[in-house]
Amino acid sequence: MSNKIEFVKREQLKEKPDPKNLGFGQHFTDYMLSYDYDKDKGWHDLKIVPYGPIEISPAAQGIHYGQSVFEGLKAYKHGDDIVLFRPDQNFKRINNSLERINMPKIDEEELLEGLKQLVDVERDWVPEGEGQSLYIRPVVFATEGTLGVHASHNYKLLIILSPSGSYYGGGSLSPTKIYVEDEYVRAVRGGTGFAKTAGNYAASLLAQTQANKEGWDQVLWLDGVERKYVEEVGSMNIFFVINGKLVTPKLDGSILPGITRKSIIELAKKLGYEVEERHVAIDELIELHDKGELEEVFGAGTAAVISPVGKLKYEDREITINNFETGETTQKLYDHYVGIQSGKIEDPNGWRVVVPKY
Ligand code: COI
Repeated sequence: MSNKIEFVKREQLKEKPDPKNLGFGQHFTDYMLSYDYDKDKGWHDLKIVPYGPIEISPAAQGIHYGQSVFEGLKAYKHGDDIVLFRPDQNFKRINNSLERINMPKIDEEELLEGLKQLVDVERDWVPEGEGQSLYIRPVVFATEGTLGVHASHNYKLLIILSPSGSYYGGGSLSPTKIYVEDEYVRAVRGGTGFAKTAGNYAASLLAQTQANKEGWDQVLWLDGVERKYVEEVGSMNIFFVINGKLVTPKLDGSILPGITRKSIIELAKKLGYEVEERHVAIDELIELHDKGELEEVFGAGTAAVISPVGKLKYEDREITINNFETGETTQKLYDHYVGIQSGKIEDPNGWRVVVPKY
C-alpha cells in the first residue's frame, strides 16, 4: 500500500516546544494516526487527524477490563532525512501483544506505511539535539461500550508523536539506582509479561512509587514464582557484564522481548563479546559483586536507550557497581548503538528506515 491516506487538516498548527526543555512524553505534535476496528468491517478508516481529545463511551471495555496494548519506537533527524529505527520489529511485536489479549491483529505493512506518512507530515517536529528524537507511541484499546466481560467487538488504534529528550532526565548516561523488588511481582509464565499490555505497567506502579519514595529510580523485578531470578526493570531490559561476558535474563514468557535488548545482543556479538541469555539469580549477582566479578550493569529500552546502573538494593544489601560510573562496555555499546540510530556510523544491518517525502 503506498496510496496517500486521508489527511484531515487542523485549522491552526501548534507552537513548538523549547528544544532545550523537551523532557520525555510531555509534548505532542499537530497530528496523529487513527484507525478503527469493528467486527463487520475489520480494520478501516486509516487516517491522519488533528492530535486532540477523542470521545469514547464511559462503558468502553478498554477502560474497565484493560484490553489495551502499546508500543514505543523513535524517529531521528539525519541531515534532511527522517529515519525510523527498526519499525518492523515494533509492528511484529504489537501483533504478538494483540493476539495475547484477544484483540484483532493489524496489517504490519499497512500500518508502517501509515506511520511513514504521519511522520512525513510532522518532519519539522523531529528534534535534532544530542539524545533527542521523536518518540512514537502506537496504542490500541477496546472501545465497545458494554459491561459483559468478553473480547470487545470494537477497537481504536492511535499513533501519537512526542518530541523527546532523555527518559531519566539527568542525561542519557547518568547511572541509575535500582531497587530489587522482593514483595510484589510483575508477571508469571503463562501470563502477559511478554506482551506490551497496559496492565503490566499498571501492576508495576505501586512498587515503583514506593521505590521512588526511598530514593530509587526504578524497580528490578524478580520472577513471579520463586522470586529468585532477575527479569526486567520497569521500563527496560537488564544486562550484566560478568568477567567481560554480557549476560541477560533469557526470554521465557514473562519478560518483554525488547527491541533494544535484541539489537544490543546482535551488536555485542558483532563487536566480539560473548553473550549469554540465561536465568540469573539475584543471589548469584550479589556473590559475583562480592568477588569483584560483576563489572557493569545496564538497562536497555527504547525510551531509556542504554542506561548504566550504579547501585542495586536487595533486601538489606546495597551494592555499588563500577564506582557508580559508566563502565567501558556500557559506553562502547552505547556509542555504537546511538551512533547507528543517529546516523553517525554505518548501519550494516539495515536497521534504519528512511521516511519518504510523499
Ligand atoms: C519504551 O521504551 O518505549 C517503553 O515503552 C517503556 C516505557 C516508556 C513504558
